[in-house]
Amino acid sequence: MPPARFIRPLVQALEAYVPGEQPRIKGLIKLNTNENPYPPSPRVLAAVAAAVDGRLRLYPNPTAQGLREKLARLHGCQPGNILVGNGSDEVLALAVRGLVEPAQKSAFKFKNAKPSQAVVQYFTPSYSLYPVLADIHGATKNAVALNPDFSLPAADELKRGRNWDFDAALTFITTPNAPGGRGYPTADLETLCRAQRGVVVLDEAYVDFAAENALRLALSLPHVLVARTFSKAYSLCFQRVGYLVGPADLLAALHKIRDSYNVNGLGQVAAEATLEDLKYYRENFRKIIATRDWLTRELTALDFRVLPSQTNFILARPPELPAPEWLQRLRDRKILVRWFGAPEVKAYLRITIGTPAEAAALVRAARAIRRQAGDAK
Ligand SMILES: Cc1ncc(COP(=O)(O)O)c(C=O)c1O
Repeated sequence: MPPARFIRPLVQALEAYVPGEQPRIKGLIKLNTNENPYPPSPRVLAAVAAAVDGRLRLYPNPTAQGLREKLARLHGCQPGNILVGNGSDEVLALAVRGLVEPAQKSAFKFKNAKPSQAVVQYFTPSYSLYPVLADIHGATKNAVALNPDFSLPAADELKRGRNWDFDAALTFITTPNAPGGRGYPTADLETLCRAQRGVVVLDEAYVDFAAENALRLALSLPHVLVARTFSKAYSLCFQRVGYLVGPADLLAALHKIRDSYNVNGLGQVAAEATLEDLKYYRENFRKIIATRDWLTRELTALDFRVLPSQTNFILARPPELPAPEWLQRLRDRKILVRWFGAPEVKAYLRITIGTPAEAAALVRAARAIRRQAGDAK
């Protein structure tokens, strides 16, 4: 270990992001990180296999030009309205680095800087990476509670209180929400975006499983970006491809600060091939939504409190035992789900929607755990 004096105090104090576990346990049913239970399309696998040859010695396209052109056609915009990253995590980090002042700098260096220029704002509960990105950058965090049922507070209500900062340099909104699962109406998002004077990133990581998306806001308002990913809906976590859609001038600024070759070549190939086979993925969305609705009904019948979900996971409060005890007992039965210790969600489990067989195994395990807990009383 290097002596602490070599390490920036900010980094020493940093609480790093904790990703979900990736254990290699044979026969494990893995429902903890919102991966897609279905493989990429055969055309994607063939395209990646065909790209693995001597060309691996070459650098990939530095701006993911081919992929940006295809995404622009899909979304009815220009390639300049798209920035691709190493997963959407990278583009979220770029937004912080490019649009937010570190708190100390704004206080000491820029005489006219306002405190809000150093603010990264987000709702709780939402994606637990946002506070970590703010901390890494030395920005000020402004975490504001969602309504108790995890619905979105109305802009008028935020104006009346709750410490919401309408001048925050950057506001992240996870929509549909994670880990709650609720979808937010685009009309409500538009009202809130229009009231913000800083940039808003609408993080639509799970939007393909939802009823609505807010892409039109990123293509019509000068301060709104939408973040998307190939990880969840398009079965490509392994390849790390995500992107931002939005105003070309904002994205041009972020292009200046990204790594020159931030999207690996096989990731570009896989994502481009994905866009050639959207029919395959739309069928998977349909299956996952059907399994989600089935699992919601089955767990509700077992006295779980399941929040309505527009994503590929559900947040469910289990009966009888504390959630961490359920986590362990499911794990003993080789089923891995996720538990977060934050106060608003610590009574819940987040369960990724797997195949129908995986969902049925979960329901069987839940029934057995419940029975045991009841017998022990
Ligand atoms: C809300 C949200 N945004 C972004 C991501 C990051 O996805 P990726 O970096 O794989 O594109 C996740 C992943 O869990 C997420 O839950």
